Amino acid sequence: MGESMTGLRRSHMCGNITEKNIGETVTVMGWVQRKRNLGQLVFIALRDNTGVVQAAFDEASTDKELFAKAESVKSEYVLAIKGKVCERTEGNINENMKTGHIEIIAEELRILSESEVTPFQIDDSVTVSDELRLKYRYLDLRRPSNFKNIKLRNDVAQTVRKFLENENFLEIETPMLIKSTPEGARDYLVPSRVHPGTFYALPQSPQLFKQILMVSGMDKYFQIVKCFRDEDLRADRQPEFTQIDMEMSFVEVDDVIDVNERLIKTVFKENLGVDVKTPFRRMTYKEAMERFGSDKPDLRFGFELKDISDVVRGTDFVVFKNALEAGGSVRAINANGCGSFPRKQIDSLVEFVKTYKAKGLAWIGVNEDGSLKSQIAKFFTPEKLQEIVDKMEAKPGDLILICADKDKVVFDALGALRCELAKRLELTKADEFNFLWVTEFPMLEWDEEENRYVAVHHPFTSPMDEDIPLLDTDPGKVRAKAYDMVLNGVELGGGSIRIHRNDIQKKMFELLGLKKEEAEEKFGYLLEAFKYGVPPHGGLAFGFDRMIMLMSGATTIRDVIAFPKLKDASCAMSNAPDVVDEKQLEELGICIKVSEEENKED
Ligand code: AMO
Ligand code: AMP
Repeated sequence: MGESMTGLRRSHMCGNITEKNIGETVTVMGWVQRKRNLGQLVFIALRDNTGVVQAAFDEASTDKELFAKAESVKSEYVLAIKGKVCERTEGNINENMKTGHIEIIAEELRILSESEVTPFQIDDSVTVSDELRLKYRYLDLRRPSNFKNIKLRNDVAQTVRKFLENENFLEIETPMLIKSTPEGARDYLVPSRVHPGTFYALPQSPQLFKQILMVSGMDKYFQIVKCFRDEDLRADRQPEFTQIDMEMSFVEVDDVIDVNERLIKTVFKENLGVDVKTPFRRMTYKEAMERFGSDKPDLRFGFELKDISDVVRGTDFVVFKNALEAGGSVRAINANGCGSFPRKQIDSLVEFVKTYKAKGLAWIGVNEDGSLKSQIAKFFTPEKLQEIVDKMEAKPGDLILICADKDKVVFDALGALRCELAKRLELTKADEFNFLWVTEFPMLEWDEEENRYVAVHHPFTSPMDEDIPLLDTDPGKVRAKAYDMVLNGVELGGGSIRIHRNDIQKKMFELLGLKKEEAEEKFGYLLEAFKYGVPPHGGLAFGFDRMIMLMSGATTIRDVIAFPKLKDASCAMSNAPDVVDEKQLEELGICIKVSEEENKED
């Protein structure tokens, strides 16, 4: 049951009423944050998305009916309150509230709608499970911190649009029902009714369409666009997410980097008031891996990797010996100041690296008196141990952590370990923004399972000019004109200069093991378009959700998406995905092959 608002118009938002409005009659509308009933006095704190304002009902000066109505109000009721703004008396001032110096002496109250008791209190300080939060996402979004994130998302989108418009980019929509685009994840498929047995794919990105727009002479394209990838979810991944996607004609790597540094600078300045220094640091993929064990290193802290293979080569410790003989390496981190870690703490680090497929973690602690303690001491002469310490520049109080294995495992394990150490030592601040470009990615990567090369970025990424001859001789060594923008250890965006030469594109498909017919079948329309005058072009796409996550200090992109999916890619609120009517399936010519048993388990 609810009253009508006829005859009342909202004059102010709750959070915007200040001392300046004292003496004015205002009308506010919103939700009841809380009600306090002091007998002769009732206070109602009313919330909208700008904040909270207090309305006061005094039994002595208000009519009986109005006072009784105020007394009947409960949390989350939707109200309209009209009244005069007054200064609060000395003892009632609340310095913690933006509107804490004033209150509205109510003259009229309408209950526009009632509310049942909510499953959780609408308050930033109340912790609730993700499942419950997302089932009642509309209530969750009433919380100020969530509103703030959604607002920031809006504001950044506007800044991006304005900036790119000024740079002569055109915002162009590309289709959502398409043929599969290769970005390496599984596709979401949409069955066609008109062409039974065939499927559209939802775009993993607008990659091919944006390249074709360059053939069309659009020159500069951008789109803030949904992308769909059926992959395992993590804190920074959702099955549908948003990219700031762009493509430019007649550009080289430096041009794409330049416009995006300026874009980021503007976005951070206008929305956070943060001055981001440009140009950003740049690092090749090779350097990033060797120094930080990651292609998206967090540079807010040190703990750099060092290769100690040469120091330990020829020693008797079988673990190191085997790794080196198998073509791997022995690398280490100097965990400065961690020498006093208790054994239990070190053991948990050993367990930690095992989740990255490392077989173990050796350690050497440097005591305050310079003597060494280590579980591998017995395998080395004291001189050799000291040599490792010297190479690692370890000082009293330091802890050296060593991993021996195939390079990939060593990088993964130590790369993650340095982040874990920083987390445990609380070395990072969410409001410190450390940007980096990682460049010169390898073009191809050998896939052990599929026994063939796969594209590290995507098959349209151009090799570096000086590496083109290697395509024939040593494809694994070819570096690409690809770049990632990294912020605080998160891949914020990535892109590349594309191949615009037919012969190189053909070679690329060959290297990826795609037969001519197969390439034709999959990307024929792009290759066809390229026959009619294709400008050199390149671009980039940001993960928009990740950008807002890092800007807002959230720890997962779920917090910056209005209606995110749960870990199992389902929507807790609407219960998607769900079964559909038999009739719909029939029209689509689809027959479901799930057994009764499996259905029951769901
Ligand atoms: P890429 O695949 O690197 O490149 O994607 C670009 C950026 O999108 C974000 N991202 C995601 N965010 C949330 N959830 C996901 N599942 C997810 N997957 C990716 C990341 C990533 O850096 N077409 C190319 C771009 C180009 O070459 O121009 C592309 O899609 O922040
Ligand atoms: P083990 O001989 O396997 O008991 O290993 C002796 C010590 O070396 C243990 O403390 C292990 O944690 C450590 N260790 C084992 N495998 C590795 C490895 N691949 N790299 C570094 N240290 C290791």
